[in-house]
Amino acid sequence: MVSLTTHVGSLELANPILSASGTFGHGLEMKHFVAPDCLGAWVSKTVTVVPREGNPAPRIRETEAGFLNSIGLENRGVAAYIAEVLPSLRSLKVPIITNIGGESLEAFVEAAELLSGFAEIAAFEVNLSCPNVDGGKLPFATDPHVAESIMASVRKVTDKPLFAKLSPNVSRISDMAKAVEAGGAHGITAVNTLLGMQVDWRSGRFGLATRMGGYSGTAIKPVALRCAYECVQAVEIPVIGCGGISTASDVLEFLAVGCSAIQVGTASFSDPGLLSHLAQDVANLLAENGVDQVQDIIGRVNQVPARA
Ligand code: SIN
Repeated sequence: MVSLTTHVGSLELANPILSASGTFGHGLEMKHFVAPDCLGAWVSKTVTVVPREGNPAPRIRETEAGFLNSIGLENRGVAAYIAEVLPSLRSLKVPIITNIGGESLEAFVEAAELLSGFAEIAAFEVNLSCPNVDGGKLPFATDPHVAESIMASVRKVTDKPLFAKLSPNVSRISDMAKAVEAGGAHGITAVNTLLGMQVDWRSGRFGLATRMGGYSGTAIKPVALRCAYECVQAVEIPVIGCGGISTASDVLEFLAVGCSAIQVGTASFSDPGLLSHLAQDVANLLAENGVDQVQDIIGRVNQVPARA
């Protein structure tokens, strides 16, 4: 029997596999494909205080490898989340991590304040990194001082664990990681999508109505892995890896660089049932390699001498 138990801050997870925000609905939309207890934790789509219609279509485009999205944080707002989503999650045994977003510091704080009293929510993931609001130019994603002050302000209104979701679209992600740790984050999710673009040279049109959007899928895995590693090296708080993960081997690569858990996103679109067996795939792969607990893999790259 392989143990997949892992810890992300104060959360004990039955396995290190989480759904990535925005790829698994808000609540139980995916239950027909994946039993909730197959996951270590379930991460909601981003919730904002004020309902958002999101960006104009087209806002999803397939590419040669992965896809571009510019959804623009479409959601029905915190009040609807509380009234319609949270009650249906009450009986779940798996921890729920609610991803919160906003266009200002005050909006992040208000979202956390309104949701903080709900015991169904095990932790918040603070979405500092959506590339699809204001063209990816919101300062939370790229300015360490702003990111730190958002985490510090949210910290003041909730006792729940806070994970900061970072953007890869920065020159030094380690600076962002240190800033959110200084602001009081209990963990980091690394990373959100890469800013990308698609055009049709025949028509001269952009693929997305917003021209640019977030690029995700297997092609970004090496970038995401590097970002996750840099975060692990920069901070003491746990890191949750995210980006291009679709196989058991991918999961273990992110753990090997020091991540305590991982998230799967785009891969669930091409294979909605993937997360129903990915934890078992990880257990099987570890067993085949004579490893009896996933903890032994975490940070493995730091346990062997560097190549000459
Ligand atoms: C979106 O809603 O635009 C995607 C969410 C994100 O990238 O954070």
